[in-house]
Amino acid sequence: MDAAATATPMPELTPVVQIEGLRKVYRTGFWMNRRIESLKGVSLTVHQGETFGLLGPNGAGKTTLLKLLLGILRPSGGSGRLLGESLGHQPSRQRIGYLPENAYLHDSLTGWEFLKFTAGLFQIPAKVQRQRIPELLDLVGLDQSVARKKQMKQYSKGMLQRVGMAQALINDPDLVFLDEPMSGLDPLGRVQIRQIIERLKAQGKTIFFNSHVLGDVEQICDRVAILAEGQIRCLGSLDELLGDADHYQVRGRGGDLTLLNHWLTPFEAQGEQWYGSLEKDPKDFLSSLQLMGGELISLSRARPTLEEFFVEQLQPSPAVLSHADDTTATP
Ligand SMILES: Nc1ncnc2c1ncn2[C@@H]1O[C@H](COP(=O)(O)OP(=O)(O)OP(=O)(O)O)[C@@H](O)[C@H]1O
Ligand SMILES: [Mg+2]
Repeated sequence: MDAAATATPMPELTPVVQIEGLRKVYRTGFWMNRRIESLKGVSLTVHQGETFGLLGPNGAGKTTLLKLLLGILRPSGGSGRLLGESLGHQPSRQRIGYLPENAYLHDSLTGWEFLKFTAGLFQIPAKVQRQRIPELLDLVGLDQSVARKKQMKQYSKGMLQRVGMAQALINDPDLVFLDEPMSGLDPLGRVQIRQIIERLKAQGKTIFFNSHVLGDVEQICDRVAILAEGQIRCLGSLDELLGDADHYQVRGRGGDLTLLNHWLTPFEAQGEQWYGSLEKDPKDFLSSLQLMGGELISLSRARPTLEEFFVEQLQPSPAVLSHADDTTATP
């Protein structure tokens, strides 16, 4: 039978966020004559069901990009579509959730009143609100009686972030934008937000978030982009950017060199010691090494962490240049 006929069809990727050459220039100063070029032509696509992380240093333009996508700001150039509609399309707002970076929360309201207020903006019926608000409070880990009784001016930063997260989900959105969702949270709070994002992901929602907490991004994102000075520096899955996760550098001594050569590619022996790269789960290799009487000196994951990669991308190492000089200077 024809191989092409039996091949499993690739699932169709539905673009949910599409932007092309998006630019934003802020004008400031008394005469509005100072130009701040915040975004310099950003293009990217996020597909349905993806969790996409936008990373970048302070002032890179991350919040500006979210505000343009949400129609809060008007672009100076370029174009974009959300859920197949032009930016700012009102009916599709019903399907979008947003946690702002500095959530403007009406602080004389209780958390509960604030959620009711937001639900009212989405015209969610009172009966649905009575069920959804306590569900969301449980989801974000905020005590229901505190949410009912305390005004938000008495909330800690972490509590405000949790109410903000609940309001972002009040309309059960298909597409969720989160600007620094882990900001101000203690480690337990961060884990809870991560779990919420994972739950949303399991429900098939599309999540687009900005974050500085690279360890969290590494754990939950399908793809990431690094934005710096208003431009995308790199974009891809973690495997594409960091390399294969199951890739280790191994160093040891002793054992059967011919066998070791089969396990490790490349493999090199230097005096008593040897070293090489392992491209699979090290468990089987370690048992085999033990059987052949070899000794392990070190084993480390070859792939950098997202944080290491991020720093490397943003600070091109002078060592790379001096290394290049070294090689040309070699007689
Ligand atoms: N309302 C504004 N008026 C003038 N300039 C602005 C305004 N908002 C942002 N900017 C400038 O645009 C650039 C990008 O800012 P933005 O807030 O989008 O960055 P960011 O990546 O979200 O930073 P952070 O990680 O600190 O939140 C910065 O230089 C900032 O000073
Ligand atoms: Mg920001």
